[in-house]
Amino acid sequence: MLATRSLAAPARQCLRQAVAAQRRAPAFFQTQKRFYSIPEQDKVAKFKGTKGNDGKFTVTLIEGDGIGPEISQSVKDIFAAANVPIKWEAVDVTPRLKDGRTVIPEEAIDSVTRNYVALKGPLATPVGKGHVSLNLTLRRTFNLFANVRPCKSIAGYKTPYDNVDTVLIRENTEGEYSGIEHVVVDGVVQSIKLITREASERVLRFAFQHADAVGKRKVRAVHKATIMKMSDGLFLNTARDVAKEFPHIEFDAELLDNTCLKIVTDPIPYNDKVLVMPNLYGDILSDMCAGLIGGLGLTPSGNIGDECSIFEAVHGSAPDIAGKGLANPTALLLSSIMMLQHMGLNEFADRIQNAIFAVLAEGKTITGDLGGKAKTSEYAEAVMKKL
Ligand SMILES: NC(=O)c1ccc[n+]([C@@H]2O[C@H](COP(=O)([O-])OP(=O)(O)OC[C@H]3O[C@@H](n4cnc5c(N)ncnc54)[C@H](O)[C@@H]3O)[C@@H](O)[C@H]2O)c1
Repeated sequence: MLATRSLAAPARQCLRQAVAAQRRAPAFFQTQKRFYSIPEQDKVAKFKGTKGNDGKFTVTLIEGDGIGPEISQSVKDIFAAANVPIKWEAVDVTPRLKDGRTVIPEEAIDSVTRNYVALKGPLATPVGKGHVSLNLTLRRTFNLFANVRPCKSIAGYKTPYDNVDTVLIRENTEGEYSGIEHVVVDGVVQSIKLITREASERVLRFAFQHADAVGKRKVRAVHKATIMKMSDGLFLNTARDVAKEFPHIEFDAELLDNTCLKIVTDPIPYNDKVLVMPNLYGDILSDMCAGLIGGLGLTPSGNIGDECSIFEAVHGSAPDIAGKGLANPTALLLSSIMMLQHMGLNEFADRIQNAIFAVLAEGKTITGDLGGKAKTSEYAEAVMKKL
């Protein structure tokens, strides 16, 4: 008996889609000066949205499950207080069954397509059964090929290491997450790790451009090509080829296990690097790196596509604290700051980011996960006072 849960369409999409090369890399958490300029026509993932007649951009808001509505409220309140020129278009992504497949409601897809940008709260995923992960569905629907996770210490907030400042970029559409699984015979299951040159090339090129945009001098591919000689081998060889297009940026490679050991022992040597890797490695390594800078409550991310981009906190829906007003909204706020930078609204991004960092450094009005006693709304109010 062969039971196939085939989610191969996105993988086929990856195989088909040509590399779009006319976008500009956004400068997430830019701290240093550019030192190398990518020609405009060669840049990827440029924001294409425009302001409406009211002088505002419209941004799709997916509040999400669990703590999602609470932390989204903090973002909305702080953006309103900072007079950010955007208006929210809230959409529901509760999955629907269409022709036997789980799909996202058309209205939600239309909204993101129209606005080119979305901010997303966490979405709960049933374990081992039920509908496919909506997070995966969104990534595939909008072909969000790169997941960018800055890993930067927050000044004043004490963690095991000071001054961590690296960037992880995870391939977001294939690899171990291609979702192609078969029951070969009862008790034997096969899961296919799909790596294509095309998807690898796209995320690697983005990684080099991102390194340029944020002033990092080195790109390092993280892999396991010693064991997965063909799949990770293809990723690694593609990285070597793409590196030739960027002679101003140093390129090297490192085995995943080696990276894990070295980065938890001393993360500072990674400060001049952007790390780029296949899907699963990026998922795990970036959560590990979140631990270096204070945990999931502080870690933002951006899912970057050719057309649309979706920004979200790294953490999940935290069902254990949902509805209690205990959630830390910082990760979603920092994701919204990445979003503002992507949209070119850097002045607002800086203002809100400075206010957040001031509240965290003061340490008086912080949430329980950071050792404080403040409620979500009290923390948001403290940020608004610092604006
Ligand atoms: N991108 C996403 O939407 C996303 C990411 C990860 C997990 N999930 C989903 O979320 C659900 C719960 O997953 P989980 O419990 O493994 O991970 P989780 O991230 O939701 O929670 C892990 C721990 O961290 C705490 N935590 C997380 N975010 C916090 C915040 N902002 N403030 C304070 N504490 C916070 C939680 O209380 C919990 O103790 C699952 O259904 C999972 O599939 C969604």
